[in-house]
Amino acid sequence: MSDLKGLVLAGGTGTRLRPITHTSAKQLVPLANKPILFYGLESLAAAGVKEVGVIVGDTREEVMAAVGDGSAFGLRITYIPQDKPLGLAHCVLIARDFLGESDFVMFLGDNLVKEGISEFAAQFRARDGGTAAEILLAKVPDPHRFGVAELDGDGAVRALVEKPKVPPSDLALVGVYFFDSTIHQAVASIRPSGRGELEITDAVQWLIDNGYRVSSRQITGYWKDLGQPEALLEGNRLVLEDVEVRLDGQIDSESAIEGRVVVERGSMIVRSKVRGPAVIGAGTVIEDSYVGPFTSIGPGCTLKSCEIENSIVLEGSRVIDAGRLEGSILGKQALVSRRQLKPRANRLVIGDHSIVELP
Ligand code: TTP
Repeated sequence: MSDLKGLVLAGGTGTRLRPITHTSAKQLVPLANKPILFYGLESLAAAGVKEVGVIVGDTREEVMAAVGDGSAFGLRITYIPQDKPLGLAHCVLIARDFLGESDFVMFLGDNLVKEGISEFAAQFRARDGGTAAEILLAKVPDPHRFGVAELDGDGAVRALVEKPKVPPSDLALVGVYFFDSTIHQAVASIRPSGRGELEITDAVQWLIDNGYRVSSRQITGYWKDLGQPEALLEGNRLVLEDVEVRLDGQIDSESAIEGRVVVERGSMIVRSKVRGPAVIGAGTVIEDSYVGPFTSIGPGCTLKSCEIENSIVLEGSRVIDAGRLEGSILGKQALVSRRQLKPRANRLVIGDHSIVELP
């Protein structure tokens, strides 16, 4: 088996997903209580990858603290610092020493490929001689927001266009690319784009223009784009669809757990109903409440006398006597409660870029 390495992109500034990533890397935003980045690392390990380079930027400390040396994933991780997010192809450029002459799979750390990449990795390993790269594509309703591929009849890529006004197809580039070492010549040959970044689409186009074959495969369960709250909830739902029942916390006799629910160790469910798919983090207390489908409650949270559905609550937050919440995202250590004193006005202390919708 050729030694396919991994290159995971977890750099960038971490400011795009306000307010949730004011202080965190966007790759560490949890879906079903697990950072998005971990799903990518697990897919690499499942595909037989052992050595992974992780590109880190401003948020390197948080990323390194979360991922460690990679042994938890069965990987050996080398961190590659990037001073500024100068583009996806720039990441390949600065990973040159780590990658050597190996084939590798580049994985964007904020993308989710639900079906994993094992099958695609196997296909790339078994490719014929002329193929220098393989890209993954997904049908999207809004191709003008993505890099879009134009294909030959046999699935070979003829051209790539970045955010086209008139898309040549509805096949968007997914954040997973397989390359052989020819890509190093490509990234060294291209110039920064109008936005000042070394674009991977330009590097792949260089391969095509220089007579190398770039093949493509289509995938289904693909998701990226944490940028909007609704998109984050959608990613959470996508991952929750796959959870299996695991009840490691304490559940009292007056509570009911329905469907696929994870209740982590050290958590307590008291006089409450949890209807899956849902996850309840370690050390969280749920009392006199209802947790509905497609909800992730992080560790160390307290929910009392409330109902919540299709929502994400990050660690250490409290929701107390707060009525019913739907489609909500609460950051870390947030508090939503009912004011006991008169006048019973809404009283808000909310951070920058927050959104509150009152009934
Ligand atoms: P994005 O900034 O989303 O890259 P993009 O080119 O897909 O952005 P846009 O949708 O605006 O066109 O970054 C994708 C991932 O790669 C994310 O995890 C951050 C990481 N990254 C780096 O590590 N270094 C870089 O130079 C860039 C551009 C991204």
